[in-house]
Amino acid sequence: MKKKRLAVLASGSGSNLQAIIGAIKNKNLENAEISTVISNKENAFALERAKNNNIDCIFLDPKSFPTNEDFDKKIVEILKDKKIDLVILAGYLKILTNSFINAFENRIINIHPSLLPAFGGKGMYGKKVHEEVIKSKVKESGCTVHYVTLGIDEGPIICQKKIPVLPNDTVDTLASRVLEEEHNLIVEGVKLAIKKIACNAPTEYNISS
Ligand code: GRF
Repeated sequence: MKKKRLAVLASGSGSNLQAIIGAIKNKNLENAEISTVISNKENAFALERAKNNNIDCIFLDPKSFPTNEDFDKKIVEILKDKKIDLVILAGYLKILTNSFINAFENRIINIHPSLLPAFGGKGMYGKKVHEEVIKSKVKESGCTVHYVTLGIDEGPIICQKKIPVLPNDTVDTLASRVLEEEHNLIVEGVKLAIKKIACNAPTEYNISS
């Protein structure tokens, strides 16, 4: 079967990208290949990771485009040229415009470091998420892979992983434990999304704890 062509969009360190690279390498993620990595940040280490693995990578500077719409139009053009099947937002800090989302309906997934719908939405990214989790004194947190729709962090959930919030957790200790789980979950989420594309199956829901 023809390999599904993945595009990974990242703005930061790219450890989730690295998890996908590793899963493909160790055949834990078959019938898929990363066709391109795109970043809006020139110094994103995700771009280094792509280069180190001979994966096509592109830095697109938002400041070179008059509007977000124009920026996203360029990305969509690149993704279509590269015949991308699935777009993966892995620490991508720009909010997608509606035209981008509509161009790849049900073929854009995102990983978020909480158990959505809790602790998601506008402004909820990075350490802010874990700060709110700890402040709220909830007993568990985790991570979620979901489809990207017009609302922020509101799309259908593909899979989630729960982890306990420990009494002495700090933002950093919780963040690093969640990130560790993300590296497994992102691969599971890509597998489920690919399966759905392949047979246009209904979105599967899978909570593992
Ligand atoms: C992860 O915590 C992810 O949930 C969030 O951004 C972070 C990306 O980390 N969207 P990395 O760049 O993949 O290391």
